[in-house]
Amino acid sequence: MSDIKKVIKDKRTDLNPVWIMRQAGRYLPEFREIRKKNTNFIKLCLDYNLSAEITLQPLKRFDLDAAIIFSDILILPYGLKQKVEFKKNIGPILGDLDFDQISKITENAFIERVDPVYKAINLVRNNNLTESKSTIGFVGAPWTLLVYILNKQSPKIKLKEDFFKDHSLIKKTLNLIDKFLKIHIKNQIDSGAEVIQIFDSWAGLLDDKDLDFYIYNPTCSLVEYIKSLNVPVICFPRGIKNYKKYCEIVQPDVICIDYEVDPKKIEKEIKIPVQGGMDPKILLTDKDNLKKEATKYLDIFKDHPYIFNLGHGVLPDTDPMMMDYLVKTVKNYK
Ligand code: CP3
Repeated sequence: MSDIKKVIKDKRTDLNPVWIMRQAGRYLPEFREIRKKNTNFIKLCLDYNLSAEITLQPLKRFDLDAAIIFSDILILPYGLKQKVEFKKNIGPILGDLDFDQISKITENAFIERVDPVYKAINLVRNNNLTESKSTIGFVGAPWTLLVYILNKQSPKIKLKEDFFKDHSLIKKTLNLIDKFLKIHIKNQIDSGAEVIQIFDSWAGLLDDKDLDFYIYNPTCSLVEYIKSLNVPVICFPRGIKNYKKYCEIVQPDVICIDYEVDPKKIEKEIKIPVQGGMDPKILLTDKDNLKKEATKYLDIFKDHPYIFNLGHGVLPDTDPMMMDYLVKTVKNYK
């Protein structure tokens, strides 16, 4: 069993497994090399030989405990035939949503469109990883996907003023997202994903009064489903104000925390295994500071089941040498 699974299942506190969100990506020259020749990002995600290779790039360099499959949360709207493009310095841009067309898509048609993701998971799991490393599959949370599907661009740029206006469209879309997320999760697990992470990158945008409808109810539905398949689930509700309440309601196996919350408070309040926390910007400073900050998290969670990770994805400007130093610091921690 991998150290990550031992932390999750057996609540081991003597192990310090580590993986990093966005560990495969633009900070690695070998990724940029492949990316240069593959200008269409979604197509790259769907080239299973390349996406398996990219998934394993960081594991060749660093002693990481997991491979997270190289894909994107926006593969889901792509699978539903919504246009998805990535523009440099802007991020994702989605096409107009024709709900009637999208709702006609069958399970088989969806699977056919995104099948290379499953093939890549299979390649990574069977050909390249030892049993000591976990293969992590992932999805976007229903709320974060709803934001991209209806807003059609990052809410960081702008959340449409009328975003919440058409409640019937929102309800229909959330139902559709729930159905196809379960299909996508099941197929990832059947292909070899041993852990599923749910990324709710825009959890922090909502008022408390809206959390039940947009976050708690739809996420509980997914978490229950993943648990019914006997696979552990990690939830990352980035920016949520009350992590304790989130854990009580959603009941994930692991809670991944962002870099704005106080890790000491989390350690006291939350009993389940914790993942992440350190600010990715620390990797842009110097080795002494990096060691100090990483050790701070490891000290705080010394007697708590803990998976080392960052509080958001690794930044593209990160020097791979700093990543190397970080992973070694975690591995050498006693
Ligand atoms: O973690 C990993 O290494 C696995 C791969 C992964 C990617 N995206 C690859 C990617 C994962 C887990 C994601 C999740 C994802 N995608 C999230 C949730 C996590 C988060 O960051 O909040 C979100 C919101 C997306 C949507 C998305 N995809 C955005 C906003 C962007 C643009 C980012 C930017 O800075 O331009 C992407 C593109 C993307 N997804 C890249 C990678 C490596 C960069 C693509 C490139 O090379 O240009």
